[in-house]
Amino acid sequence: MTLKQLYLTMNYLSRILIGASLLIMFLGSCSDMGEPEVLLPQIVVEATDIDFSTVTIGSPQIRQIQIINSGVGELQGEMTLVQDNTAYTLQPQGVFVVLADDTLQAELVFTPTAELTYTAQVLINSDDLENPELFINLTGTGTALPVPALTLSNSSLNFGTILSTTSSQQAITLSSTGNDTLLISSIDFELDVYSMDVSTPIELTPGASQVVTITLQPDGAGTFNGDLTINSNSPSTPDVIALSGEAEAAVSYSGSVQPIWNSNCAGCHGSNGGLSLSSYANLMAGTSSNGPVVTVGDGANSLIIKRLKGEVGGLMPQGGPALSAGTIATIETWINQGALDN
Ligand code: HEC
Repeated sequence: MTLKQLYLTMNYLSRILIGASLLIMFLGSCSDMGEPEVLLPQIVVEATDIDFSTVTIGSPQIRQIQIINSGVGELQGEMTLVQDNTAYTLQPQGVFVVLADDTLQAELVFTPTAELTYTAQVLINSDDLENPELFINLTGTGTALPVPALTLSNSSLNFGTILSTTSSQQAITLSSTGNDTLLISSIDFELDVYSMDVSTPIELTPGASQVVTITLQPDGAGTFNGDLTINSNSPSTPDVIALSGEAEAAVSYSGSVQPIWNSNCAGCHGSNGGLSLSSYANLMAGTSSNGPVVTVGDGANSLIIKRLKGEVGGLMPQGGPALSAGTIATIETWINQGALDN
């Protein structure tokens, strides 16, 4: 205790004694002596309970306590924080003096350090004879630090094999799964054949999500493997999604397939009633007896490929020799690509 505090405490105690004796004198003598010159303080503290509710661990929350002296004499007292932890701080603390009609502002700070409920009391003793002891109940609960988090629907995305003249789309979902706002500052593609339908920055509150549609637009035939990188305020940043896809040049029916029929099959597969290979329409019509010879999108299971490989029935061309593996592959690819009339 400093000398000043000691002085103030003594002063405060003596004032209680003086105040009490003056009151007794006043009560005993007011009838004959008229109104005495007693200047009594009057303490007013409005808060009886302060609830800080739920507070993030480590983040200070501040409340004001007001000690009002609505009396006509100087108020002296002492304010003490009673707690069995260090979650609360009070400033000022200890002895205080509030002049008549004046107010003392004190600042109460709650800083939880764990996921607990903290209770404490502020005790206020004063020389107000009617309210010599007041207290304010404090409560507050700590909660875990808010942390943003990004959860991806996919860690990789495969666009398969597409024609180099077409494009393909796939969607991913970015979810904000933390308890703080997720800020996505940028989404970058390693390869510029990939693009997306959203622009950054993207802000996602906890629980919100964003669907992003990614487009592969090949710039020719080739394999396109590259990363998509998401930068955010999530501790997991940067988040990476591996993108892969392949584009192949379209096989032209008129430019590559029909010429094969013309030079190897036309002699026997013209307009003599069986399978006609004289045009796209005739090929796709198949035969009246055995049905289609092309299964669109499935070269390996198309009858015409099976006959060219000698897997079923007699090898075509009838009497041989077989077409080269490369030539058969061209036809098979054209069927796999959708057997287009291109
Ligand atoms: C020398 C004559 C000859 C040549 C050349 C020939 N084919 Fe054939 N092809 C036939 C005959 C005859 C049949 C019917 C008997 C059979 O199914 O084996 C036939 C049947 C087929 C069938 C089965 C369709 C059906 O009618 O059931 C396919 C498919 C076929 N040929 C494809 C081809 C292709 C493709 C070529 C060229 C690369 C070719 N053929 C060349 C004579 C020929």
